Amino acid sequence: MEIALSKKFLCACTVQRSLVSSVGIMVLFLITASWFLVSSRSSIFPLSVKVAEDIQNTENTTKMGSGNHSDGRLILDARDIPFAESKKSRKAEAGFTSIPNSSYDKIRSGEDSNSSENSTKTVTERLDRRISIWAPASHNTSSHSSNSGKAKFGDCDLYHGKWIYDPTGPLYTNITCPVLTQSQNCQGNGRPDKDYENWRWKPDQCNIPRFDARKFLEMMKGKILAFIGDSVARNQMESMLCILWQVEAPRMRGNRRMHRWHFRSTSTTIVRIWSSWLVHKSAPRGIVRVHLDKPDEAFFEFLPMFDVVVLSSGHWFSKGSIYLLNGDIVGSQLKHSDRDQRNHINSMNAYNIAMETVLTAIATHPNYTGVTILRTYSPDHYNGGSCSSNAEPAKKLAGNGHTVTMHDKQVESFKEAVKKVSNGSKLRLMDITEVFGYRHDGHPGRYGNPDAKNLMGRHIGGRRQSEDCLHWCMPGPVDIWNEILFEILKREL
Ligand SMILES: *[C@@H]1O[C@H](CO)[C@@H](O)[C@H](O)[C@H]1NC(C)=O
Ligand SMILES: *[C@@H]1O[C@H](CO)[C@@H](O)[C@H](O)[C@H]1NC(C)=O
Ligand SMILES: *[C@@H]1O[C@H](CO)[C@@H](O)[C@H](O)[C@H]1NC(C)=O
Ligand SMILES: *[C@@H]1O[C@H](CO)[C@@H](O)[C@H](O)[C@H]1NC(C)=O
Ligand SMILES: *[C@@H]1O[C@H](CO)[C@@H](O)[C@H](O)[C@H]1NC(C)=O
Ligand SMILES: *[C@@H]1O[C@H](CO)[C@@H](O)[C@H](O)[C@H]1NC(C)=O
Ligand SMILES: *[C@@H]1O[C@H](CO)[C@@H](O)[C@H](O)[C@H]1NC(C)=O
Ligand SMILES: *[C@@H]1O[C@H](CO)[C@@H](O)[C@H](O)[C@H]1NC(C)=O
Repeated sequence: MEIALSKKFLCACTVQRSLVSSVGIMVLFLITASWFLVSSRSSIFPLSVKVAEDIQNTENTTKMGSGNHSDGRLILDARDIPFAESKKSRKAEAGFTSIPNSSYDKIRSGEDSNSSENSTKTVTERLDRRISIWAPASHNTSSHSSNSGKAKFGDCDLYHGKWIYDPTGPLYTNITCPVLTQSQNCQGNGRPDKDYENWRWKPDQCNIPRFDARKFLEMMKGKILAFIGDSVARNQMESMLCILWQVEAPRMRGNRRMHRWHFRSTSTTIVRIWSSWLVHKSAPRGIVRVHLDKPDEAFFEFLPMFDVVVLSSGHWFSKGSIYLLNGDIVGSQLKHSDRDQRNHINSMNAYNIAMETVLTAIATHPNYTGVTILRTYSPDHYNGGSCSSNAEPAKKLAGNGHTVTMHDKQVESFKEAVKKVSNGSKLRLMDITEVFGYRHDGHPGRYGNPDAKNLMGRHIGGRRQSEDCLHWCMPGPVDIWNEILFEILKREL
């Protein structure tokens, strides 16, 4: 009886074992086959032919892609991209070739191919969903809060609240801040209204105090704070400098590649590094190649130096460029490339992959122990190309599908990266996209140009002057980003 039983058991066991091994072989086969399919796709599939056509078609490469900026040309400031950025770096070529799998797998399976179709979904629906994930303290997170990515603010959700008018006035003016970039000096460029300087963000459950520059410098004693990203990151960095300048004039150090400002009293350094895509790029034949699987060496090699990193990007993904993974062309943001979306990584998915690459590389860097704050996608307000008629925050959020999608892609990547944090660094989300969606009044608009006074309402050479509805006036809403940053850092440092 016993023998028979064990024999039967043995038998079942063998069957099971052979089943397991054949399943194993099948899986192995499937993996190999799918890899073959994937790796051969770039050479067999007409994709690369199409991209090659596009490369010759350089004139149209700055097409705005799937974002709806209608007739408003998105203003991106390329003035101070350092030359070093286009230089091929051997270091970047060597490492980080692994593909960030979560987003790539999804794209490969086609699951994500229609993501931009959802653009008209109501914003509040998305907001609710997001807040249920990210609301810092309304959840019972006490058990695993240290590296969950959620900043802790007692019961206060910093990103749920309202804009209130505060006549106290801004933290600095175009007179008291000597580093204010002219294109953000809205008052200096003739903007007639001023109320946009006086709105404060009021979270429902708490107050964000007015920025105390002295306290900030003390908190940042001996520390280095780096702003990494594009011209919007520069916008925030300059706002920070202007605010701190009110208590101490810093000394400028550094170079074109890394701007550094040093505050002697507390030995605090504010750094800015230009990185448009945050991942490696090259431009062998005039068209930018964006390597989605390699962090941009322009900042990555300096990472261990920094105590706090404020990371941001997004708008450059609307520019003409080619996307590469593992050295292969996998998509582009060029003319002719709208067809075959399924086999093609578009700008939104490229953004998703690039964000995950960068955040994961930061989260797993063995020598970096700082706090990284991902400042989410900055909403622009090109409404028929203009935003100059807005003098106060919007009462209702206008749906902007492109912004919502870019935001969601970023948050998705963030959530993946947070799971991988190792070795003492922290990853936090500064989720400003929705909140600043109301601030259509805070952009330079036609006052992004010192000649605005003279050009007002005129058409130059038969063309309307394009407005800047992307960057933020200084002083203006961008100063609130730094107040929120201060609040986050109070809890993390
Ligand atoms: C660029 O696009 C416009 C309209 O889409 C088209 O008329 C023009 O011929 C294109 N230029 C080139 C060089 O293809
Ligand atoms: C990503 O790939 C690694 C191995 O390369 C694997 O261990 C990990 O589980 C994968 N993650 C996901 C989310 O698929
Ligand atoms: C994706 O969008 C196309 C049209 O843009 C539609 O025909 C297709 O059914 C959509 N696929 C899914 C899975 O929704
Ligand atoms: C579109 O939105 C619906 C409902 O919000 C969601 O279930 C669906 O997954 C979304 N589709 C894509 C491709 O994001
Ligand atoms: C949080 O805890 C409260 C009671 O302490 C409970 O009612 C609530 O369901 C919990 N929420 C979650 C998301 O677990
Ligand atoms: C500063 O703004 C005022 C208007 O508030 C303007 O008259 C002045 O010219 C500006 N100064 C500079 C240096 O931009
Ligand atoms: C980390 O630091 C060690 C020791 O200084 C160094 O050998 C190593 O290359 C560093 N790793 C990275 C990724 O920077
Ligand atoms: C773009 O937005 C404008 C208003 O902001 C709207 O009138 C237009 O229909 C939109 N275009 C597309 C293609 O969604």
